[in-house]
Amino acid sequence: MNINDFARRKVAGDKVSMVTCYDYWSAQFLNQSDVDTLLVGDSLAMVMHGFPSTVHATVDMMATHVAAVRRGAPNKFIVGDMPFMQARYSHDVALQGVSELMRAGSNAIKIEGAAGQLDLMAHVVESGVPVMGHLGLTPQSVEAFGGHKVQGRAEAAAEKILADAKALEQAGCFALVLECIPQMLGRKITQALSIPTIGIGAGPFTDGQVLVLQDLLGMQADFKPKFLRHYMNGHQALSEAVNHFHSDVTSGAFPNCQEVYQ
Ligand code: KIV
Repeated sequence: MNINDFARRKVAGDKVSMVTCYDYWSAQFLNQSDVDTLLVGDSLAMVMHGFPSTVHATVDMMATHVAAVRRGAPNKFIVGDMPFMQARYSHDVALQGVSELMRAGSNAIKIEGAAGQLDLMAHVVESGVPVMGHLGLTPQSVEAFGGHKVQGRAEAAAEKILADAKALEQAGCFALVLECIPQMLGRKITQALSIPTIGIGAGPFTDGQVLVLQDLLGMQADFKPKFLRHYMNGHQALSEAVNHFHSDVTSGAFPNCQEVYQ
């Protein structure tokens, strides 16, 4: 998958799959998978570092993880997330962040929101850096939303998201993540744009879907928002494996005679 394939997929009606990836180990595995594209999302602040929200991600943190993912997945299209506020201080600061994420190994940058940063996004695109937009429940604005809540339910809010989506296309974004919006709004935006939409909790009509890897693997048994599908019970599988190791150690069953050097 390269940047041109996103537009081709939209025209052909072929869906795009994207998963988050934060580290070398899972990047190696995903590099050999069929998944189209990897997102080094700022959700890594929560999933990998245990912070309560994505506002704790920094450019340094993002660049370290992008570089690890690039080493593990040399063949995948990698999108790096611009962390909280990086696009808002000034163009210089924003461009510094973009440069660091690109040098770390990103093929494209994802920037949340639209209002107040359309010029910056157009400038980044004109500078030769593909930009992915992100609207709906933009987690960096979680405090303004009063929690992780579905966005665009009221007509005015839906119209605003649609207008922002058109503005992001106009600014040159090559794709747009739509997070936690009603499915009919997901469909309306997808039909209105010539760039692909990639949904998470935005229904089946978007041009692609993205999930957090650890979520789709069911690593947190009790984290099951409505939009999420667990593709395995990762929490149980891993617990069983490490507990099996523990019991083999304590019973003396590990190592056996084939697992020792003579
Ligand atoms: O940071 C992230 O993981 C994201 C996805 C949820 C789209 O932005």
